[in-house]
Amino acid sequence: MRQDLTTLVRPDRVHRSLYTDPAIFAAEMTTLFGGSWTFLAHGSEVPGPHDYVRKRLGQRPVIVTRDGDGAIHALVNRCTHRGATVCRLDAGTATRFTCPYHGWTFSNTGALTGVPWGAGYRTPAGAIDRAELGLGRIRVETYRGFVFGTLDVDAPPLLEHLGYAATVLDDWIDRSPTGEVRVQHGAHRMEFAGNWKLAYDNSADGYHPGFSHRSLLTMRQEQYGAGVDMQYVLADVDAGAQTVADLGRGNTFLDQRGEIPRFWPQAAPSPGREAYEAVLRARLGDALAEEALEPAVGSGMNINLFPNLLIIGNQLQVIEPLAVNRTRLTWYATSIGGVPDEVTAIRMRLQEDFPSFGEPDDLVNFEECQDGLSVPEMEWVMTHRHLQSGRSWIDERTGCETGPVSDELPIRAFWRRWSELMTADLKLAVT
Ligand code: FES
Ligand SMILES: [Fe+2]
Repeated sequence: MRQDLTTLVRPDRVHRSLYTDPAIFAAEMTTLFGGSWTFLAHGSEVPGPHDYVRKRLGQRPVIVTRDGDGAIHALVNRCTHRGATVCRLDAGTATRFTCPYHGWTFSNTGALTGVPWGAGYRTPAGAIDRAELGLGRIRVETYRGFVFGTLDVDAPPLLEHLGYAATVLDDWIDRSPTGEVRVQHGAHRMEFAGNWKLAYDNSADGYHPGFSHRSLLTMRQEQYGAGVDMQYVLADVDAGAQTVADLGRGNTFLDQRGEIPRFWPQAAPSPGREAYEAVLRARLGDALAEEALEPAVGSGMNINLFPNLLIIGNQLQVIEPLAVNRTRLTWYATSIGGVPDEVTAIRMRLQEDFPSFGEPDDLVNFEECQDGLSVPEMEWVMTHRHLQSGRSWIDERTGCETGPVSDELPIRAFWRRWSELMTADLKLAVT
């Protein structure tokens, strides 16, 4: 397959089978998700000692736990007896997990601590070797609360992998006055009948909003006047102040901040907005209220961390591939430290904004792409916008290739990393 894969990704186009072939999908789930530093969870999803949350690494079931000392672990949710999952709840608090099938028990650091009627495993050499029968452990590292896991035994440290993406993440996290970010348990789950990469392709695609989301944007323009929300995407996006960048190793960035001098005054009207603002102005005075409200909406940033985490505005969107033509997207609202409760409330209510009114436009396009990509005689998906227009540059400050927001350079960056991982000789293992 490796040989074939190199012919399917070209500098200006990729083959449709990358979106439709179940064998490629299976290889991605193993190699790509196992071999990258893949986002697993945010530390605030397991805030206290012995908290856990159930996740996936590709399609591998995983439990992310916090032990009694505060350290985070990622365990393969797969009993070492006959393979059943040992954790069947989405989240909770537990010092140990007992497999419902035959009762083997594991600590939340993965050690096998109990085997019912263990004498049945006795051999002439002695008792059962518990040390070799612990849950599979996935190497994890954390960056400012974001927990990533990899099975690549030779993966570089997370910080090296993130490169300039870590600085971009800092910018996003430091919109919080205290640097604290909390991911909310309650999430907005969506599924679409299409390949998972359609979502990643879209996340730094500044070419589509003026078309895909035109109804939402023009409705707001008519209702609330010019200058509100993302109306700048209705103009010539080759000429605007938004940019996209290749952050390296498949991580990409869409930066809208050049079009947003101040966040709160420009934000779209949202439920309860006037009431929250009035309360804050009365309590804090105008200047402090306006400062507090700035991080309540948006962030003007889409940060895409290969292969499955899309940070969009104030939300995290996690891509969960279910099948070659089926994907779940989960939008998590985030709250931040050091702000009044009203700001937190507005951030929560943003779930009623773009995830509800904009994302359905994208989901429809993803499904229609999947339908169109089923045509065998039409083989190629074009990724060459601005490839040769001479419009991209290496940003001196960041060292990253950067272009106008309509440049498809993020998609090409994705495919470069994809090819690298899918054709590498990776050694994947649990510890
Ligand atoms: S499969 Fe878990 S105890 Fe048997
Ligand atoms: Fe979109």
